Amino acid sequence: MFEHIQAGSPDPILSLAADFKADPSESKVNVAVGIYHNESGSPENLTSVFEARNRITQANSALTYHPITGSTAYLDAVKSLVFQDLSAAESENVLAMQAPGGTGALRIAGEFFKKFFPDSQIWISNPSWPIHNDIFNAVNLRIEHYPYYDRTSHALLFDELVSSLQSAKAKDIVLVHGCCHNPTGVDPSTAQWESLAKLAKDKGLMVLVDLAYQGFAKTVREDVTSVKAFIEAGVPTFVASSYSKNFGLYNQRVGALSVYSQEGPAVLENIRSQCAKIIRGIYSNPPAHGANVVATIYHDDSLRAKWLSEVDTMRERLTLMRELLVAELATYDIDASHIRHENGMFSILDLSPEDVQTLREAHHVYLVGSGRINVAGLTRDNVGYFAKAVASVMNGR
Ligand code: LMR
Repeated sequence: MFEHIQAGSPDPILSLAADFKADPSESKVNVAVGIYHNESGSPENLTSVFEARNRITQANSALTYHPITGSTAYLDAVKSLVFQDLSAAESENVLAMQAPGGTGALRIAGEFFKKFFPDSQIWISNPSWPIHNDIFNAVNLRIEHYPYYDRTSHALLFDELVSSLQSAKAKDIVLVHGCCHNPTGVDPSTAQWESLAKLAKDKGLMVLVDLAYQGFAKTVREDVTSVKAFIEAGVPTFVASSYSKNFGLYNQRVGALSVYSQEGPAVLENIRSQCAKIIRGIYSNPPAHGANVVATIYHDDSLRAKWLSEVDTMRERLTLMRELLVAELATYDIDASHIRHENGMFSILDLSPEDVQTLREAHHVYLVGSGRINVAGLTRDNVGYFAKAVASVMNGR
């Protein structure tokens, strides 16, 4: 019956968590999976989340089904987070739907595009989070890649990106990383977002913004510059947002798919009801706890202020680790100053897949095969060891 089934390849990112755990070395360093760790090297349990969870537990509400596209309290929080300061008129043009994490939101969007725009292609940056390709392949959307990043100069290839998108056709979808590009950490400037938005508008494209790291580049408020640029240009915009990282709710699978369209509320309601049918046929309705945590925090002034300050603390630690890593690598004559200017958790080091393998086998340092590191895996204690290991591989080539 099952002889024809071959083993699936290990997940390029999540499989590394198990490999790291199984490594008995005391000096091991995990800069692989995109999970925020604090200065003690532990995943962060936010105080705001702890307090919200306590309130929810105390309330002891019945565990009945959530609405298929999520509760009003959660969706109001999502709209405020994703769209920030929308006018009353513009909020008529906005819809939000709960999804199981950012990945679930991308998949719902993919199912929606395949059903209603079967001839459209989706344009994905090269490089990108590898699972983007898996998600859109799974729904049989045709995928194109646009140039994004030069591995030698670590620069954004903005002109090449724009000229590649010239061959996109009306109703194609451009997938962008709203901030903290994964895996490069390199984001367009505000002016570049605006010119990309103009291009999308002129060519009649749709945009799908993957917003998984809001608050980790500048601030929660400022990290939606991309979304604002597309909306201001009147581009039909989908946003897949995740609250795994900025609320530390990784295993709660809490995210959302939001939609902006100037075609107004009746059209948005049609989109919502079609997405509800898609959701009902996959997982029926969303899990509640993580969404209730986000809603509880967002609608309480003091918890929201506490959360915002906890996000600031996480971001400031990322910035500090970037500085320390650049300084440590400089002591081995390695210029990694690009890391200082990149955003969020990720940067790419000049390492080949073989170098990555050597780092793991000889130094117990775990990173993704592309050379992507998660700077949140570094601490004051291990950054020196990490830099020495990287230098021994780079300088020993
Ligand atoms: C990552 O890129 O490491 C994270 O987004 C975790 C994941 O789901 O791959």
